[in-house]
Amino acid sequence: MKILVTGGAGYIGSVVTEELIAAGESVVVFDNLSQGHRAAVHPRAAFVYGDLADRTAVEALFLAHQPAAVMHFASNTLVGESMKAPFKYLGDNITNGLNLLQTAVAHGVRRFVLSSTANLFDDPERIPIDENERIVPGSPYGESKYILERYLYWLDRIYGFRYAALRYFNAAGATEERGEDHDPETHLIPLVLQVALGKREQISIFGDDYPTRDGTCIRDYIHVADLAQAHILALNALDSGSRRYNLGNGLGFSVREVVAACRKVTGHPIPEVVTARRPGDPATLIASSSTIREELGWEPRFPDIETIVATAWQWHKAHPDGYTG
Ligand code: UFG
Repeated sequence: MKILVTGGAGYIGSVVTEELIAAGESVVVFDNLSQGHRAAVHPRAAFVYGDLADRTAVEALFLAHQPAAVMHFASNTLVGESMKAPFKYLGDNITNGLNLLQTAVAHGVRRFVLSSTANLFDDPERIPIDENERIVPGSPYGESKYILERYLYWLDRIYGFRYAALRYFNAAGATEERGEDHDPETHLIPLVLQVALGKREQISIFGDDYPTRDGTCIRDYIHVADLAQAHILALNALDSGSRRYNLGNGLGFSVREVVAACRKVTGHPIPEVVTARRPGDPATLIASSSTIREELGWEPRFPDIETIVATAWQWHKAHPDGYTG
């Protein structure tokens, strides 16, 4: 099956492409390289440089490659930025997604996997968070993903467009070849590892007065290769119906616990300083992934935080300047 991966040069999209190719699928990556890296694209994937905002380019892409399924990662993805630049999210993420969806429907594609987010659950009533939790997007970023989920719901009802919306919690870790390289970097684990690499003096802990066991925020870190496996299982299950899954390990680690795991893995003291809370950070986000475990038999291979950090550390040591180094 030929699969179109938008954003296949980015962190998660490039690892999913790697796993799809390992599973014997044929992949075409479409990416504008605004955040992704050409070097992150698997050499056996076809690569088309282009922007989803350009409807003509998207049309040409479908005509040339005739994908049977689409996995959509290309997106603006920063919660904090979306609070400062809402139209980049409520505008671009939506219109680009619509260009893709309209073209896919017009070309008879009926299988779609959406990269969605735990930012749909800003004010959870129950932890761990399952798929029945009420949806309260935490930012224009989360809202943009929710709006795309709603479009998918209607396309399924009207056209039988089968979709899986995968709400990731905190993607982390690396494969041997592919890891996390954002500019600017905002995510906790790569920032802590930059301290161990000598590229940053200390890590700032954004608040230690949250109602958690050590006062720092708790998150559910899921290995990017485990996320990738979930995409493949979800894609293969689409013929029996659309689905929405929350994806995490079901284990929460505090910021301080993550920093401690990084110290253990790297052997570096990693100085820390406590600074003000980052606006918009909920205290605790932990996923219940029991639905995807029960329905598709998904099982994380790297549930433990030290292993997740160790895979990231291997990659960052081998690529201290990321893909451009
Ligand atoms: N943190 C620090 N210091 C830093 C960076 C982060 O203390 O220098 C803390 C944050 O405050 C947060 C935790 O580390 O408590 C994790 O922060 P990340 O920025 O790594 O990840 P987020 O949980 O904020 O965001 C992630 C994804 C988003 C997604 C969101 C869903 O990156 O795309 O989870 O809740 F929307």
